[in-house]
Parts: sequence; structure tokens; C-alpha cells
Amino acid sequence: MMGADILAVAYLLAAVLFILGLKGLSAPKTARRGNLLAIVGMAVALVAVLASPAVSEYGWIIAGVVIGGLIGSQMASRVEMTSMPQLVAALHSFVGLAAVLVALGTFLNHRAMGGLNPVLMAELGIGSFIGAITFTGSVVAFAKLQGLMGSAPLQFRGQHLLNALLALAMIGLTVYFCITGELWVWVAMTVVALLLGWLLITPIGGADMPVVVSMLNSYSGWAASATGFTLQNELLIITGALVGASGAILSYIMCRAMNRSIISVIFGGFGGDAVSADAGQAGDQTVKSAAPEDASFMLENAEKVIIVPGYGMAVAQAQHAVSELTSLLEEHGVTVKFAIHPVAGRMPGHMNVLLAEADISYDRVFEMEEINSEFSTADVTLVIGANDVINPAARTDKGSPIYGMPILDVDKSRQIYVIKRSMSPGYAGVDNSLFYQDNCSLVFGDAKHVCEKMLQAFE
Ligand code: TAP
Repeated sequence: MMGADILAVAYLLAAVLFILGLKGLSAPKTARRGNLLAIVGMAVALVAVLASPAVSEYGWIIAGVVIGGLIGSQMASRVEMTSMPQLVAALHSFVGLAAVLVALGTFLNHRAMGGLNPVLMAELGIGSFIGAITFTGSVVAFAKLQGLMGSAPLQFRGQHLLNALLALAMIGLTVYFCITGELWVWVAMTVVALLLGWLLITPIGGADMPVVVSMLNSYSGWAASATGFTLQNELLIITGALVGASGAILSYIMCRAMNRSIISVIFGGFGGDAVSADAGQAGDQTVKSAAPEDASFMLENAEKVIIVPGYGMAVAQAQHAVSELTSLLEEHGVTVKFAIHPVAGRMPGHMNVLLAEADISYDRVFEMEEINSEFSTADVTLVIGANDVINPAARTDKGSPIYGMPILDVDKSRQIYVIKRSMSPGYAGVDNSLFYQDNCSLVFGDAKHVCEKMLQAFE
């Protein structure tokens, strides 16, 4: 059994490791190390908790760890990369539910033993309502992403008013609970919070869900932190706050990169302005198409090439073919760089993960701010399944849903090749004026197939 001093040192060590882990995760180069540090931190935290004087019974804990560990490892090893957002949403719902159940257990325990006081009840109330909102919100996000529920935004008149009234009722009931300490008030408050979580997420369209998942990640952190106060566990308070703050920062970054307002994510009704797939067609303008062999020839004869991956590369799983193409070009003395937009793909870091999986070294991969000034010096830019993140309408067309979103300045390159299967728009549902520029050619086809054809043309 661990003494209080050793326990405090172990908690401190775990907290420091979590902070260093998060720091490492902020850049692709240090992400592996960051992940490892966080794993070690979690191991330290688990051993410390299990060895702490507060734990006297191990049977239930071992059973929970074995069953949960088996289910979790099976799920994690089977999940497809594209299904990651729904897995994360499902996990957040567990955190929310756990916060509610811990609060209920603590409340019943203290009520039976006579240790209830207003501060504890405030902690229990806040922990329960954040947890309940996180739980139902995450369940809806999971259901939409998994296709169990229609992904279209569900909106009705007076929605914001109803949400505001429910939020007021929830806060009022929490205050009343702190005063009375009655079980029925706790139940009423939790039911209102469950309903609110549901109503906040249903108006959001399926494709906007990743931002919401990141927001729910933040909520789950705050729920865990509130549980830490209830259980008087400093490490849980710190860890929850780290998750809460990092999730909030990530949501803010994603919103800014998508030109969405963070306020509308928090209050629901976000993404309802999604445009239909045929919106914004560019009349009778024509596009130039090119064969993979033409693009391959131009790439081979270039000095500097910038590759822009997007959602289509993920769909086609073209990253390995892209990696081979990169190696071949470099063998020919061509400088190859990758440009990553912060919201390319469908989840944060989507492109970085795919490129890392295909062993494309980090020093060739650049964020938007780092590389945008270089497009004008690129001989060829090869766009692989990206669309919205390179659409110049974001700069010029005030009526466009993506107006104001920072984009990759691909249009400034000398020659552009865009690999995509058709003239279908990207996620925002708007036509792309880049495709009609004189220096742009479209190479129609599945990204993996086209990249393989380009490789064959080289050989
Ligand atoms: P998108 O604008 O969605 O465009 C993807 C393009 O890939 C489409 O035009 C599609 O055209 C093409 N494509 C699809 N499957 C393909 C395949 N097998 N082979 C070749 N091309 C294929 O992608 P983006 O440029 O990466 O932008 C991301 C969008 O998602 C942004 O609007 C962003 O705001 C939004 N979003 C991002 C996130 C995060 S966190 N990344 C979260 C939510 C929403 P075809 O059908 O003609 O092939």
C-alpha cells in the first residue's frame, strides 16, 4: 500500500507526463514520443490509484479492467481509420455516463452516511449535468456517424429558445438540489441535461460531426474533472482539465479553419447551412482533362512539386502509391513537398496520419502557413482528392458557404493537376473555380488507380 506522500508524487509525475504527452502530440515529428509519454503517465496513474489506501477491494476492479480491456482492444484493432470519429464519440459517451453514475453513487453514499454538504452537492450537480449532456450528445454523434440515425440536420422552429429554457431549468434545478439535497431534484436535473445533450447535437449535419466530436471531447474532460472533485482525486481533476482545455482549443482551431463559429457549435444548429451537392455549378465553363501519363511526364520534368492530399486520398487509400511516386520523383532529382490544410479530410490530422502510415517523412510535410508562399515557386502542384481546401471562391465569393476559410494557394502554381473521379463537389457542396483555370487539368479516376498509372508511366 502506498503512503500519501508517494501517492502525491506519483500523481504529480503522471500529470507532468500527460502535459509532456500533449506537448508532443502538437507536432507530427514528436507525436509518437508524446503518445508514449502519455501511455507511461497513464500506467503510473493506474498503479498509483490501485496501490492507494482508498482501494481495499480488487475483485470488481480486476473484473472491470479485464472485460473492458478485452472489448476495448478488440474494438481498437478492428476499427477502420475512417470510422475513428464514431469510436471516439462512443468512448466520450462512456466518460459522460461514468460521471453521472459516480455522482449518483457518491450522492447515495453520502446521504446514507450523513456527509452531504452544499459544496459537495454543487460538485455532484455540475458533474452530473456535464456528464449527462456529454452522454446523450455523444450517443447522437455516434449514431449519426455510424449511419444509425439520419445525418441530415434536424431543425425546428423555436429550437434555440427551447434549448435556452432547458439550460435555465437545468441550472435552476442544480441550485435547488444544492439547497435541498433531494434525490428527485437530482433525477429531474439529470433528465433535463440528457434531453439538452440530445437536442444540442441533433440539429447538426453528419459531415460537421467531427468538430462536434472534438467539442464533446472537451465536455467529457470537464465531466471527468468534476468527477475528480467529487472523488477528491487531484489527478482526475488535472487530467480532466487537460482534456477539457485541449478539446476546446482543437474545436476552436477546427472552427477557424472551416470558417465556422464556435458559438454555434456550442449552442447547436451548426452546419445547417450545408449546401446541396449540385449547388454553385459553374454554368457552361469547361475544364481541361489530362491522362495520368501526361501528369506523370510533367512531374518527372519538374524541379519542384507540391502534393496536396485531401479526403479523396483517404477514400481511395492512395497513400502508399503516393509514397512510391514521391520516392521515384526524388530519385529523379525532383524536390517534393506535401501541403496539409488543417481541415483536409474528415478529422484533425487525417492526412498526417495517412502520410505517416505510408512512411512519408515528416520533414517533407508542411502546414498551410508554412507552405502557402511556396506555391508560386512550384512547377507542378498535384492535388490528390482535395477540393474545398483549395477552392479560390473562399477568397473571392462572398456568397459561398466557404467564404473566409483560409485555403491552400494552389491556384498560384505554374501547373496544377487535380485527381478526382468526377465533377462532384467536395464536402461543402460548392463548385470549385480552380478547375476552370488555364493552368489546371483534371485527371479523372480513383486516386489510387491514377497514382498507380502514373507510377507505371514512370517505369
Ligand atoms: P473535400 O472538399 O471533401 O473533397 C474531396 C474530393 O475528393 C471530392 O471532390 C471528391 O470528388 C474526391 N474524391 C472522393 N473519393 C475519391 C477517390 N476515391 N479518388 C479520387 N478522388 C476522390 O475534401 P478536402 O479538400 O479534404 O476538404 C475537407 C472538407 O471537409 C472541408 O470542407 C472541411 O471543412 C470538411 N470537414 C473537415 C473536417 C476535418 S477535421 N478534417 C471535419 C468535418 C468537415 P469526386 O467525387 O469527383 O471524386
